[in-house]
Amino acid sequence: MGNLSIQAHYMDIYLHQMGGFSKEAMAKESNMPEEFEPVVAVAIGRMGDASFLDEPLKSRETAPRTRKELEEISFEGRF
Ligand SMILES: Cc1cc2nc3c(=O)[nH]c(=O)nc-3n(C[C@H](O)[C@H](O)[C@H](O)COP(=O)(O)O)c2cc1C
Repeated sequence: MGNLSIQAHYMDIYLHQMGGFSKEAMAKESNMPEEFEPVVAVAIGRMGDASFLDEPLKSRETAPRTRKELEEISFEGRF
């Protein structure tokens, strides 16, 4: 998923990963072979125009993105 995300971004394509879906329904509706297990669903597409969205989606889409500080998700020098 990391590699796919980076390549898609490079090609101006956007991904939205989702873990909040029914794994059972996904497996059933897609006729997934039994040895596979649904883990994540991904919507893939080109960036649209947020002005066409209704609220609250418009506000969510246009809100500034925030990211955790690097120090919150990584560390160095502890062996
Ligand atoms: C494994 C994984 C599962 C995710 N599941 C959901 C989800 O079920 N619903 C959702 O709205 N966002 C989910 N996200 C977050 C979105 O994919 C996205 O990263 C987030 O909305 C931040 O968007 P932004 O990069 O445009 O700020 C998930 C992200 C990851 C990595």
